[in-house]
Amino acid sequence: MLALWQNSGNGLYAQQDRDQAPTNYHARLKVADDGSFAFSTVRPVSYKVPDDGPAGDMLRVLGRDAWRPAHLHMIIQAPGHRPLITEFFPEDDEHLDGDAVFGVRAGLVLPFSRAVDRAALPAVLAARDSLPMPVWSATLNLALAPA
Ligand SMILES: [Fe+2]
Repeated sequence: MLALWQNSGNGLYAQQDRDQAPTNYHARLKVADDGSFAFSTVRPVSYKVPDDGPAGDMLRVLGRDAWRPAHLHMIIQAPGHRPLITEFFPEDDEHLDGDAVFGVRAGLVLPFSRAVDRAALPAVLAARDSLPMPVWSATLNLALAPA
């Protein structure tokens, strides 16, 4: 099972935005028997963590800004394996080197490529034939640790 969540194009998560349904940009996917999966979503955007309280005061004292690079959160679970809770960042985000919460690791940064040919998208992608092309595309190769 794979669960994912992200912010919307306005930079806000559903729980921060009264105009979004509570489950907006949240999904659970069933992974195929061979471990493969594919999904489509909007590209997440960079956003500022709330900086109107103590966390903002601390960031200002440290001379840091409140930006987080765009990312997609995931929880991956499989029988006999330890769950993996992580996030992935597009390699072209301008805030990779200044993440307010220090979440960026080299192994979590992915190239996003511009796909113009729908035939190049994974055949198992449910929206493959209906996506407005071109789209951004990224490939994840994940390995879970044994339990
Ligand atoms: Fe986030």
